[in-house]
Amino acid sequence: MKIKNICCIGAGYVGGPTMAVIALHCPEIKITVVDIDSNKIKSWNGSVTKLPVYEPGLSAIIKKVRGKNLFFSDDIDQAIINSEMIFMAVNTPTKTEGEGKGMAADLKYVEACARKIAQVSLTNKIVVEKSTLPVRTAEKIKEILLTENKKVNFDILSNPEFLAEGTAIQDLFKSDRVLIGGDSSKSGKEAINSLVEIYSRWIPKKKILTTNVWSSELSKLASNAMLAQRISSINSLSAICKKTGAEIDDISKAIGMDHRIGKYFLNASPGFGGSCFQKDILNLVYLCKYYGLDEVAEYWHQVVKINDYQRERLSKIIASGANKKDPIAILGWAFKSSTNDSRESSSIYITKKLIDLGININIYDPMVKKEKILSDLDSVYSGNFNPNLVNILDNISSCIENVTSIAILTEWHQFKDYNWKDFIKIKQKKVKIYDFRNILSDELKQYKHYYKL
Ligand code: NAD
Ligand code: UGA
Repeated sequence: MKIKNICCIGAGYVGGPTMAVIALHCPEIKITVVDIDSNKIKSWNGSVTKLPVYEPGLSAIIKKVRGKNLFFSDDIDQAIINSEMIFMAVNTPTKTEGEGKGMAADLKYVEACARKIAQVSLTNKIVVEKSTLPVRTAEKIKEILLTENKKVNFDILSNPEFLAEGTAIQDLFKSDRVLIGGDSSKSGKEAINSLVEIYSRWIPKKKILTTNVWSSELSKLASNAMLAQRISSINSLSAICKKTGAEIDDISKAIGMDHRIGKYFLNASPGFGGSCFQKDILNLVYLCKYYGLDEVAEYWHQVVKINDYQRERLSKIIASGANKKDPIAILGWAFKSSTNDSRESSSIYITKKLIDLGININIYDPMVKKEKILSDLDSVYSGNFNPNLVNILDNISSCIENVTSIAILTEWHQFKDYNWKDFIKIKQKKVKIYDFRNILSDELKQYKHYYKL
């Protein structure tokens, strides 16, 4: 089927950028991105300098396609009715209650989408799972669709997204692969072909992989688990470096030069953050347990446990060199650079540990807003956070002005480029610098109070 109208449910970090890129490459397809959060839709329709998602290159694309073939709307029903293909790009967080609490993915938003699609659809639809979902979710979605609407045909595809925040646009332009899972029935095959046709407008055919639905769903969880596993592996080795005098950067380089291992995803850090790695691995652990694979579950669980250990270990290092009277500066709140996203950022957990020890904290991040930092802290304190315990500054200089310890937790270029040499000279005192992203220049590494991972 030639697709002329697409609806994407969920205008977040995935829905917004992916649909913008499809709109750019397929000018003849009308794409409507919808969301239950009408404020978010307002922002998507507002100034391109204040979009709800910050991604390098995104605003330029939005300028080109918005109002031409890309639309943001809160009229969900109409957008579903008008489209032949519907992407579900809603959030799938870890469950906070009920069976699987703290481990399984909460599918209530996906299920709500399926119900809505079933209720309003008047014509046949291709329903595409863009959200990251546990293997065999398509079965559940199909059941909802078929139970609630017997008049139209639904084909379900799995098309997980592999973009990383901060590089979303380049990842979407030059994807390593596009994965499409579907069933082998005649209409299933036609549905797969419709989606292949869309991606093949800019992705070479050999990079478009088609599989059955279950392989596609599980590949996404497996991919995130493998990436996170490398980070926990290198972070665990950073702990043994501290005991032995080995340097973790040297280890990363040495092992990464083996072409079988490769150099990517071997940067030691204060632990991986972001909305997905932890939740997807916990989801995988839950699935393994569900299928009785306890050893496999424990293997993957350890990846998350090492991440918690790294956060704990580094908090202790910072605290052990702190003087309770003086505030500590936390540089970086985003979970990585080039994004305004702070979900599951290690900064949140390390800051909490320091606050719990009675230490005052200064915080600066170039992209994450003050209200977001406070709401992140309020969440980890279950709604009881006293905002007077932190001082959120709007520039690096005032953040580090009167502190005796500085922890660099996000690899923002602003932190790399800061004139640390002059700062140390002017201060003439022993300011401890914990460079937990190992980003500062070699020259600074000679400074007596410089600590790297
Ligand atoms: P997000 O929270 O930024 O966006 C999800 C949006 O869905 C929200 O705006 C929410 O209001 C909306 N929504 C929820 N239920 C809805 C409903 N019933 N109807 C309409 N709108 C609804 O989430 P995200 O980061 O874009 O992630 C979405 C999915 O993609 C997740 O499953 C995630 O694991 C996966 N993923 C995320 C990334 C990433 O980098 N963030 C990358 C790959 C995959
Ligand atoms: C990750 C994956 O890279 C994407 O492929 C995937 O689509 C996405 O999750 C998802 O499913 O949400 P993202 O979380 O946006 O993307 O960003 P990453 O670049 O993977 O970084 C995740 C975390 O790991 C960050 O906190 C980063 O600082 C940390 N990291 C990354 C390290 O500590 N060391 C590294 O070597 C690399």
